[in-house]
Amino acid sequence: MKRDGALKSIWQENIPEYQSINNWNKDEVYDVLIIGGGITGLTTAVLLQSEGKKCILAEAYNIGFGTTGGTTAHLNTILDASYDQIEKDFDEADAKLVARATREAIDLVEGLVTRYGIDCDFSYQPGYIYAETAEQSSRLDEIREAAIRAGVVASCSEHIPVPMGFKNACRFDMQAQLHATRYLHGLAKTFEAAGGILLQHCIVGNVENGQHFTADSALGNIKAQKLVYATHIPPGINLLHFRCAPYRSYACAFTLKTGEYPAGLIYDMNDPYNYFRTQTISGRQYVIAGGFDHKTGHETNTDQVFRELEAYLRKHFDIDSIDYKWSSQYFNSTDGLPYIGELPGEENIYVGTGYCGNGMTLGSLAAKMICEMITGHESKYGELFDPSRIKIVAGFADFVKENADVISKFIGMRFDYEQISALVELAPGDATLAEWEGHKVAMYKDENGRIHALDPVCPHAKCIVDWNSAEKSWDCPCHGSRFAPNGALLTGPARKGLTQVKWEDIEGD
Ligand code: FES
Repeated sequence: MKRDGALKSIWQENIPEYQSINNWNKDEVYDVLIIGGGITGLTTAVLLQSEGKKCILAEAYNIGFGTTGGTTAHLNTILDASYDQIEKDFDEADAKLVARATREAIDLVEGLVTRYGIDCDFSYQPGYIYAETAEQSSRLDEIREAAIRAGVVASCSEHIPVPMGFKNACRFDMQAQLHATRYLHGLAKTFEAAGGILLQHCIVGNVENGQHFTADSALGNIKAQKLVYATHIPPGINLLHFRCAPYRSYACAFTLKTGEYPAGLIYDMNDPYNYFRTQTISGRQYVIAGGFDHKTGHETNTDQVFRELEAYLRKHFDIDSIDYKWSSQYFNSTDGLPYIGELPGEENIYVGTGYCGNGMTLGSLAAKMICEMITGHESKYGELFDPSRIKIVAGFADFVKENADVISKFIGMRFDYEQISALVELAPGDATLAEWEGHKVAMYKDENGRIHALDPVCPHAKCIVDWNSAEKSWDCPCHGSRFAPNGALLTGPARKGLTQVKWEDIEGD
């Protein structure tokens, strides 16, 4: 199977592309069209289909192509937003709701694995957060106490399963992990076995709303009564694009000389934090570790980020070999909680986004909530996670910061190009934003020396893309659209790729 980057994640090992089996009926008006074949889309599809809805799922590439294929697959009730922060920004009752919602999300995954016999190495694991400084230590006490108030089972721990020095540690019970793409494939089989239609390599363009939705897709028009955007962030331009900021995280999977693999889901308290766990792939154990996150499009030399991650890991672990390195994207919300429910300003269009670094848990939660909403049940969490919520206090400072950054990108980056004078400076496999004969051009030289010249203006909302050297993609810093070296759209919210620049266009002026 393929993924939205040049690097191979551990979840791609020995996983062929999923083969869809059911044919679709172009004349049928389906109950629900789900766009996106990651954790949110496939879980939603399984739940709705099992509730008797006739569903069709359209994935632009293969299932797991987006962030689910690049996750590190932690399922947790401890989110990036700490419970004391949630208490402060919302209130204690809401913090309890978040703890309950995330518990139910993990239970949902466990229930689907058991009910449908999905072979994906699901297991419950203890979670650990450890503090390395005195300041972190007192902060960790606050985090633990608030987690307990919210209803999470947490306690002090005398030990952590990784070989780092620590001053304080906290243990959280009943967290979980799984094999991400085997889980997705199991969901896909379950969905199809229940009569669902799964279309891969079916990019969806414009969607018109009349008597029903008509989605213009690569395979023809798809008609449905309701629509779910399970695309990580919805396409088009919406309020949510100003309430979510795209980030990238870096991961490695490596073997150890000692053979002592850490049991549990482990996190330090750095900003950005580092995370660790163990996974067995084809009978071989690996530590999966990650971190070194940054805002998408803010780091061109992403190979250097991998070098820093590797140096950090080698300092602490007796590494035998690093077999996988990859990076993936997530969206931070302005108040740390996800946006799940009807798309602001729309009816019968549902969305889940802003999962921060907790996409496997919150994507599962989104599926559960969207299923409840579509089947006419009230969701206990609908108000708290409402995408249209206006909560000025919660995350307001972050909101301003994220958007100030977006605005500076809108107006600033276009004048801030690295100047290059000749194409020969570009090494094969490398890319740059260049000023060429007075034109701004995103240029990539492929391994055969062929130049791909693109208009660097993102078709979503006109920000300027930046090169991601490790994943070999053009990444938009504003709302996270990503494009292949030849400009093809990898992930939205843009609906189309970057425009090719023809040399005649340049030379003709
Ligand atoms: Fe919004 Fe590029 S993703 S401008």
